[in-house]
Amino acid sequence: MTDVTAARPLNATPPVETAPDTRPYSPGMAGVIGAESAIALVDGTRGRLLYRGYPIGQLVARGTYAEVADLLWTGEWHPGAQLHPEPVPAPVLAVLRLLPQDAHPMDALRTAVSVWGATQKLSWPPTPEQARRLTAFSPSALAAFGRLRRGLEPVEPDLSLDLAGAFLQQLTGAPPDRAAARALEAYFIAGAEHGLNASTFAARVITSTRSDLASAVCGAIGALKGPLHGGAPAEVVSQLHEIGSIDHAEAWVRQTIADHGRIMGFGHRVYRAYDPRAAALRQVAEAMDERPEWLDLAIAVEDVVLRVLAELKPGRSLKTNVEYYAAAVLEGVGLTPDLFPATFALARHAGWTAHSIEQAGLDKLIRPDLRYTGPLDRDLPV
Ligand code: ACO
Repeated sequence: MTDVTAARPLNATPPVETAPDTRPYSPGMAGVIGAESAIALVDGTRGRLLYRGYPIGQLVARGTYAEVADLLWTGEWHPGAQLHPEPVPAPVLAVLRLLPQDAHPMDALRTAVSVWGATQKLSWPPTPEQARRLTAFSPSALAAFGRLRRGLEPVEPDLSLDLAGAFLQQLTGAPPDRAAARALEAYFIAGAEHGLNASTFAARVITSTRSDLASAVCGAIGALKGPLHGGAPAEVVSQLHEIGSIDHAEAWVRQTIADHGRIMGFGHRVYRAYDPRAAALRQVAEAMDERPEWLDLAIAVEDVVLRVLAELKPGRSLKTNVEYYAAAVLEGVGLTPDLFPATFALARHAGWTAHSIEQAGLDKLIRPDLRYTGPLDRDLPV
């Protein structure tokens, strides 16, 4: 047997016996329980979503975003709970004015939350009051950027409106259409919370270090910006424009899958059944006065996509997800597709901040292990 140490330099690291790491590993942490939470049940098998026990369909049909956010923060249903917009503080406006007009609205929103946090001296642990103020501030900040990038001056929020209506009012500079405000409110409710998705996990990790709520939401916005998470609805619109007519749908879907592409608005890490948020938002979209012209195309294309996915991916139950009909609602209320991800972020503020509050209550640093797969005990060249 060769003595390997004989050829090594005198000051070389002695080889260390390393036992193989046989602990289970799940890529993407799929199937791993990362937290216990009493906030939402996402039942992927039965297509059920409950916020604090209440079904999403009832909340969208009968609740307000203010009531739902309050429910997520406090755990109880308080009918008539209010949440009105907060004006944008001067330092935030000053920074938003410095951004290039073509900055991504998600970058603008993340920047605004960061500057807001710098002005607030937020204490730890986060509280429902901090959550309420941050959730009420962000729509005003995004609307201000929405105007600045078009060369328009921001307008003050109408403090009598709820958040969805005030967001539209601050974007357009005019009182919001009641039906559009209600449709956007329904979207806000459907998007408010969804368990331990990537952005919520990011928020919980940051809060677990005893960092403040604004930092947690900045991190969450960064995670949501990725096209596999919050970027899908904008791509649903361009996808439908590309398909153009129902006659081209089947060939387009088959070609996309043959090219290993993804059909936006379909598939989900958790849902194997139809996403209940998609069902609720489809109803909202179909009832809108200003139906986007491609909504009928979207409904027809959905059937084709579901049929072809079932045929070509038989081992995987790929169904419509929330983003498909979110795109219809957001386009219908007059938002441009590049605002869709940031508008989703506004809705998700309630869930992110509720999770931060819950995580802080646990006060346990999140720090998973990794399995090292690199080289061992190398020596730098002499
Ligand atoms: N179109 C075509 N094929 C798909 C789709 C899709 N939309 N979604 C999954 N698949 C296929 C994959 O190609 C893969 O097939 P293979 O096993 O033959 O290679 C299989 O299904 C499993 O895919 P994964 O990426 O492993 O599934 P995962 O659970 O990690 O992905 C995800 C979930 C990212 C949402 C995926 O379904 C997707 O990319 N969808 C399109 C983007 C989208 O709509 N995102 C919004 C999600 S909802 C939200 O974040 C709020």
